[in-house]
Amino acid sequence: MTETLTILGIESSCDDTAAAILRQPAGGPAEILASVVHGQTDLHAPYGGVVPELAARAHAEKVDVCVQQALESSGVALKELDAIAVTAGPGLIGGVISGVMCAKGLSASLGIPLVGVNHLAGHALTPRLTDQVAFPYLMLLVSGGHCQFLIAHGPEKFSRLGGTIDDAPGEAFDKTARLLGLAQPGGPAVQAEAEKGDAKRFRFPRPLLDRPGCDMSFSGLKTALLRQRDAIIADKGGLTVQDRADLCAGFQAAVVDVLAEKTRRALESYLAENPSEPLLAVAGGVAANTAIRARLETVCTDLDVTFTAPPLALCTDNAAMIAYAGLERYQAGNQDDMSLAARPRWPLDQSAPALLGSGKKGAKA
Ligand code: KG4
Ligand code: ZN
Repeated sequence: MTETLTILGIESSCDDTAAAILRQPAGGPAEILASVVHGQTDLHAPYGGVVPELAARAHAEKVDVCVQQALESSGVALKELDAIAVTAGPGLIGGVISGVMCAKGLSASLGIPLVGVNHLAGHALTPRLTDQVAFPYLMLLVSGGHCQFLIAHGPEKFSRLGGTIDDAPGEAFDKTARLLGLAQPGGPAVQAEAEKGDAKRFRFPRPLLDRPGCDMSFSGLKTALLRQRDAIIADKGGLTVQDRADLCAGFQAAVVDVLAEKTRRALESYLAENPSEPLLAVAGGVAANTAIRARLETVCTDLDVTFTAPPLALCTDNAAMIAYAGLERYQAGNQDDMSLAARPRWPLDQSAPALLGSGKKGAKA
């Protein structure tokens, strides 16, 4: 690369509208000049999940505001942009369309390249933005909408080793919180309760551990929790503070065990092919869970593998990761034109069989 590149990234595939500006000097690492995220948590809170129509309208209203704020806070003028990257899928289609239309308008009016980005590639390439990690590496994406193991071979070359066949773990945390009357998003609330509870009092299932491979399932866990909760209520007329903490601790222990064992298997199959590149990166909101993170680090230590997790603001949905993935695509000589389409489903690994389910946060593809 011979020149400095400045790129705008736009993200609107789920419940965060985001814009970011990245600058990559010739031969140097990319720098985030601005990263603006407008979340929609309050908008969807009364409904217990993301409502696609409300999300789409909010994205349409906010996307240009985000772009404006990213430009202002970075001090970059529109005419200084060299390219525009935008999430073109997978995700809730109304939101993805808002971002793609905004990016097309800017690209056409400024006469600069448009680069469509796969949202999952954005997450999967983040360790290269934050830590300049070299290909290949193993990635665990674990959030409210995604849960999969990917080997990153190149900016657009990924193989999927496995993933959830139903709910993502963050969804399971959120549903658990709802069943126990805790605040949303459920992950931090359940974690805080779990820290006060006895993980041994209730034994919840560890789905799919008895089957080979790295696929996971988390939807049965919340049903088991619901049954246990109702059994306690039928017995005692309600839940004590300690009952609630123990339920959270038992639930979290099951998620930790499943993620740890499946990560161990994914690492073993990754290392069999790539013994000289022992690195696991995690991204996604659930990677913020200290119990999950600690167990994943233990699995890595046992297998002599380096563990890395981007800072939380870049683990969760953001546009800096989209700008970065766009930069990599653009530098590899790829770009799109006005025919770029928004895609609700877009598996990163086209050769892997489709995963089931499309959860509250859209396609898990
Ligand atoms: O990556 P993210 O911001 O959004 C997407 O899902 O794309 O992840 C949000 C999810 C929510 O389901 C939230 O409950 C979960 O991450 N989460 C956690 C924790 N913090 C956030 N789950 C478990 N433990 C946490 N500490
Ligand atoms: Zn995401």
